[in-house]
Amino acid sequence: MAFYKRSRAGNDALSLRRVLPFVLVVLLGVLFVIFLIKDGTVASYPSFANMENPSSWEKDFPPSVHLKSEVKLPKQTTLSMSLEQRNKLPPRNMDLFPNLAKDHTKIVLYVHNRPQYLQVVVRSLSAVEGIGETLLIVSHDGYFAEMDRIVQGIRFCQVKQIFAPYSPHLFSDSFPGVSPGDCRDKDDPAVKKCNGTADQYGNHRSPKIVSLKHHWWWMMNTVWDGMDETKGFSGHILFIEEDHYIYPNAYRNLQLLIGLKPLKCPACYAANLAPSDVNSKGEGWDMLVAEKIGNVGYTFNRTVWGKIHMKAKEFCSFDEYNWDITMWATVYPSFGTPVYTLRGPRRSAAHFGKCGLHQGQGKSSACIDNGDANVRLDEIDKILNIKPEWQVHVFKKQTGYQAGFKGWGGWGDERDRELCLSFAYMYHVVESS
Ligand SMILES: *[C@@H]1O[C@H](CO)[C@@H](O)[C@H](O)[C@H]1NC(C)=O
Ligand SMILES: *[C@@H]1O[C@H](CO)[C@@H](O)[C@H](O)[C@H]1NC(C)=O
Repeated sequence: MAFYKRSRAGNDALSLRRVLPFVLVVLLGVLFVIFLIKDGTVASYPSFANMENPSSWEKDFPPSVHLKSEVKLPKQTTLSMSLEQRNKLPPRNMDLFPNLAKDHTKIVLYVHNRPQYLQVVVRSLSAVEGIGETLLIVSHDGYFAEMDRIVQGIRFCQVKQIFAPYSPHLFSDSFPGVSPGDCRDKDDPAVKKCNGTADQYGNHRSPKIVSLKHHWWWMMNTVWDGMDETKGFSGHILFIEEDHYIYPNAYRNLQLLIGLKPLKCPACYAANLAPSDVNSKGEGWDMLVAEKIGNVGYTFNRTVWGKIHMKAKEFCSFDEYNWDITMWATVYPSFGTPVYTLRGPRRSAAHFGKCGLHQGQGKSSACIDNGDANVRLDEIDKILNIKPEWQVHVFKKQTGYQAGFKGWGGWGDERDRELCLSFAYMYHVVESS
């Protein structure tokens, strides 16, 4: 009897111990649901969450496969080939930063030739909290020794340099540069017997002007689909430019935004470091903001890249030389639902350049301004300043370029369109059987 009793008591204690974890899990679950209901976007913006949540996120993309014959890349110059070889080098600073953090967001900085700006950007990046956890990829449009030197001097994280091998800046007398016999300005090919297809306004291509869109598209394709360093990477990539000052809190804020995105804004394709209005410092509210994707510090993942890549034909055939206007007017509208990005109420990056991309280097008309001068950091810009419990304010009305805009032109030449498509196909080639 005594034995029986003791053993019953022992069993009771045992079963309580077994049940306790279960009870705790249920309790936590209930608390979590209460947290969601209390704070969620769902309660504040039912229509936003329900109507505009893209239902097709997890739909598999048809694998993009292309025949070799679809890829028509120009004959390379010696410089172009040697830079392409350099693209295969492993990242620098592996001795100082042997490992990337498990949940890191890679950073792509795309640059042309404004060294005095790049210095400022690099200095700002060196002060970013967490920068040592990630890989910085610098994508160069053209080869410029001073730009190269600045990037080679970076010591605060792993750095991988890539050079667009088909940049018009690398071809002095053949396409994608200017070839002898090319039409110029408003030449009529039939009369002048010159090569080229004019844009919708009758103007022929200008290599300097098309280089930006080519670079952006080559870079996107390469960083997502053409590099060992990103193969199988399922995280986000942040994109910044040579005139974007990055605040010390940018990386930590971004990680938080990326984590909050699925919960707070299922309709958001991206996260941004700054408002889409480049002159805005943000509203300063105690709220997150969902709005159209801006150019300063946009961040997205491979799923979103897959959707963009599927629109290669639209991107490459739209007669507009600006990549961002091309995205707003053709690619995003083709997704079927409004495209939003999630950001904080204070910017974590600032566009500081006053010089246009094509003004920077002219010897007579050198445009040099002190980029540092117009970015003033407050203490709150140096620390994580986004709160996970904040609600999302949605700017539903998306201003600016939309579906229906015909484009500013500059992208009418068949050769540019073909090169652009080749960039989209070159990492997806199958051997024909
Ligand atoms: C136009 O381009 C073709 C093909 O590259 C070339 O053979 C031809 O000489 C060019 N025409 C002129 C007028 O230079
Ligand atoms: C990528 O981002 C989209 C939009 O935020 C999200 O719906 C999707 O689940 C993400 N994909 C992965 C693999 O995390």
